[in-house]
Amino acid sequence: MLIDRLAFTGLRNLEALDLTPSPGINLVVGPNGSGKTSLLEGLHILGMGRSFRTRQLKHVISHEAPEMTLFARLAGETPMPIGIRRSREAAELEMRMGGERVPRLAQLIEALPLQLVNPDAFRLLEGTPAGRREFLDWGVFHVKHGFYDAWRRAKRALKHRNALLRHDRIDANSMAAWEQELAQWGERIDALRLEWMAHFVPVFEETLSRLIELPALSLRYSRGWDKQRSLLDVLEQGRMTDRQMGFTQNGPQRADLRIRLGRRPAIEVLSRGQQKLVVSALKLAQGRLLERMTGRSCLYLVDDLPAELDAKHRRVFCRLLESMRCQAFITSVEHDALVGPWESHMPVAMFHVKQSPAGTGQLVPQAQIDFMTE
Ligand SMILES: Nc1ncnc2c1ncn2[C@@H]1O[C@H](COP(=O)(O)OP(=O)(O)OP(=O)(O)O)[C@@H](O)[C@H]1O
Ligand SMILES: [Mg+2]
Repeated sequence: MLIDRLAFTGLRNLEALDLTPSPGINLVVGPNGSGKTSLLEGLHILGMGRSFRTRQLKHVISHEAPEMTLFARLAGETPMPIGIRRSREAAELEMRMGGERVPRLAQLIEALPLQLVNPDAFRLLEGTPAGRREFLDWGVFHVKHGFYDAWRRAKRALKHRNALLRHDRIDANSMAAWEQELAQWGERIDALRLEWMAHFVPVFEETLSRLIELPALSLRYSRGWDKQRSLLDVLEQGRMTDRQMGFTQNGPQRADLRIRLGRRPAIEVLSRGQQKLVVSALKLAQGRLLERMTGRSCLYLVDDLPAELDAKHRRVFCRLLESMRCQAFITSVEHDALVGPWESHMPVAMFHVKQSPAGTGQLVPQAQIDFMTE
């Protein structure tokens, strides 16, 4: 997966842009408020259907524009154009691939696997299990056939069971049917997540060791219900307490990844920089495993690369990313922080984001720079 053309309009403060990114590293430099994060946000929306800054996409549309259009061409034997349009009025996203409307976001996500490393990334360690589940499921979705179907079916069954729990009188037959369905697909999701974890953990450990020495750091999957019991049994036995709570307390929707240093949660022990490196290792390991298992590469969006990292760790991060031969967009306010750390023969392109007095940002490609000879 490689983007060889990018065209955005109506995205935050950015002026309409149409550019040819490097198939390797794309460095994006500009002052505060110029639009660097907005560029990554546009790419994130293209690949994930949502922003990492706001739940409401209408806030991403430029104040001056009636709509936002995001377009990328994926290189390949048959290039694949993908696009998203969101107008201020319509609540829905219009998604297109190869000129056709696509009804499901999953198709877009599958076409453009991407990972984001930004200054909020530590939330993966600190925040709710939902973020870690999303991280886990991203990996399973991209490498395990049948996961999306199982996930959709379980989600539907869970919705029905939760609705029934809130009824005054529960129809026993309906409840039993939805519990069977949830149990069947929940067990399947668990099996796929477990298989994926068995592949992921060694790749993660190796990736982490290349970034930082933290041998006591461990990653453990918790499936969301009692290890010793079947999900069906847990659902049936838990019906009364679930009724009191008003929702299903056990199941694949409660899975988590436990990230510990020794016996303590990693977040309680690690420094900010160490947290960023652990999260970076998690995210880089996703791309490495994806490549290993499917031969497909992952797009990396790295916002404010220098934040929290000293020069040494900046360098190891960049070299690891470079060794993966992925396409990446990396931002910084400081030009020098991005120029130093590259060593190999990846093509590197530099873009400056120029800010106009009115506050709009214009992406200006710089001449291709041969960092290797500097
Ligand atoms: N809907 C919008 N329409 C127009 N401008 C917007 C909109 N939303 C935000 N902005 C402005 O867009 C600008 C770009 O913000 P962005 O976060 O992309 O900058 P940045 O280059 O990443 O800055 P920093 O270096 O501080 O992280 C900001 O000045 C912001 O006020
Ligand atoms: Mg920013």
